Amino acid sequence: MEEVTYQGLTFEPYIRREEIAKQVHRLAQEIKRDYDGKNPLFLCVLNGSFIFAADLFRACSLHDAEITFIRFKSYDGMSSTGEVKQLMGLSEQIQDRHVIIVEDIIDSGITAAQLRKELAKQSPASVKMVSLLFKPDALTVGEGPEYVGFSIPSKFILGYGLDLDGLARNLPDIYVLKEK
Ligand code: IMP
Ligand code: MG
Repeated sequence: MEEVTYQGLTFEPYIRREEIAKQVHRLAQEIKRDYDGKNPLFLCVLNGSFIFAADLFRACSLHDAEITFIRFKSYDGMSSTGEVKQLMGLSEQIQDRHVIIVEDIIDSGITAAQLRKELAKQSPASVKMVSLLFKPDALTVGEGPEYVGFSIPSKFILGYGLDLDGLARNLPDIYVLKEK
């Protein structure tokens, strides 16, 4: 695997597709075990989570699972703006539903905390979160996700849905910003 360059910055290989697939399948097994027969509603937080959500949703192979989408934006370039903008709302009724929030990465936790607060108002049966990646050292609000693929240090990464100003989401592997 080669290094990649975006906006004049160099990124080196960090998590390979085989390792990602392994964790996605491990998470899927845990979720299948916990939600079988519960008609769960997966809530994919766009844009970053779309690739992970597609892989996870299929891997769970839950006969009665549904998926829907919501869109948030909090990052500009390589850092959080500290402000979360909702760009697309929730169209489903979630009252009495078991909701599984699907996130690509939990960084400051601001997006997750705001979403959990909004969902709680609509009286779901339960809300849990699955995130492929989690930066525990960067967490400033709320708790971490109930299901975590990888816990990683607070470094900027991209690929497998994660972007730098919209770029690099289509890389099959995950890359980390190279230290100078
Ligand atoms: P939070 O609200 O600070 O937890 O930010 C969550 C969102 O920030 C994620 O869903 C990503 O879209 C974005 N984000 C956080 N860390 C990274 C990163 O290392 N690379 C790319 N996007 C990131
Ligand atoms: Mg995101």
